[in-house]
Amino acid sequence: MTAQAGICAEPNLHAHYLMFNILPEGNVSVVNALAKIPALWQELEQEYPDANFSGLVAIGNQVWDELYPNARPTELAAFPAQQQGQRVAPETPFDLFFQLRSDRLDVAYIAVQKVMALLAGIVELKDERQGFRYLDCRDMTGFVDGTENPQGEDRAQVALVQEGRFAGGSYIHVQHYRHKMARWQKLAITVQEDIYGRTKPDNIEYESAQKAPTAHTKRTSLKDAAGNNMEILRQSMPWGTANAQGLVFIACCNTPVNFTRMLDSMFVPDDQGHFDHLTLFTQAETGAAFFAPDQEWLSSKGD
Ligand code: HEM
Repeated sequence: MTAQAGICAEPNLHAHYLMFNILPEGNVSVVNALAKIPALWQELEQEYPDANFSGLVAIGNQVWDELYPNARPTELAAFPAQQQGQRVAPETPFDLFFQLRSDRLDVAYIAVQKVMALLAGIVELKDERQGFRYLDCRDMTGFVDGTENPQGEDRAQVALVQEGRFAGGSYIHVQHYRHKMARWQKLAITVQEDIYGRTKPDNIEYESAQKAPTAHTKRTSLKDAAGNNMEILRQSMPWGTANAQGLVFIACCNTPVNFTRMLDSMFVPDDQGHFDHLTLFTQAETGAAFFAPDQEWLSSKGD
């Protein structure tokens, strides 16, 4: 099996994200079109070797059974929505998610056009967003994002299903966050740093004992019942327009459980009333759960 390159890709400069829903009667044509996707990824990688292109297509929880009856990734489930007063992480399902990443904006755009041509007449484009590298891999809140991501071979261990008929695939969660920038920028830098549990200019992690129970890195560093670290591979990138900015958050993992537990820990107050204070300064506008099968699996499903 060959995992789609976008799952474990190293950070790069540009991204284009597309969300589609399938038009009525489109399912068979979509399965055939998706079978051609691995060849498209290969064509783009070979035609523009300097661009570090990586592609990723993932299929939504709600449409999976219609596209691929009797072949469901065992843990695929709906997006685990959260609601705590004004702090919400909604579920907004989509049928297909594409992440098109490249160090060249033009090559990412060529990939968009090829995907659009492949799916013409059988899908409806529901959301489109461009991601970009901001400074030295910072989120728009000004903090370096991705530092504690798994590195090297650990990326595949964390992100890819290791065994069974879906080995090489990945459970994907995507959320579009819009930051409350005016509110965030009013905070003193030390207060911002406490919210992450890391310093801002030089990106140094606080000692564990110095992290507030409300710090983002505290609330997302979780262990399972056996005491093992629960990890995800984050492929997030910032987005921005003239008057709005935020993060396209993307989690890739060999199980949906880790993301679900982390989101719960961010939103639901613990028995002392603590929750992730980052959730006071950014708003999730979408939330969708997908599975990204390996390339041979996708290709084998066409006519
Ligand atoms: C760490 C930003 C949402 C999981 C971090 C860090 C930043 C950051 C700056 C510290 C550096 C690093 O290790 O990457 C953000 C922003 C978010 C967001 C701006 C939303 C707007 C989420 C969500 C999850 C998550 C929704 C999972 C449900 C993690 C994890 C870490 C982390 C696991 C590493 C913690 C550690 O081991 O220290 N995030 N994040 N983040 N974030 Fe987020």
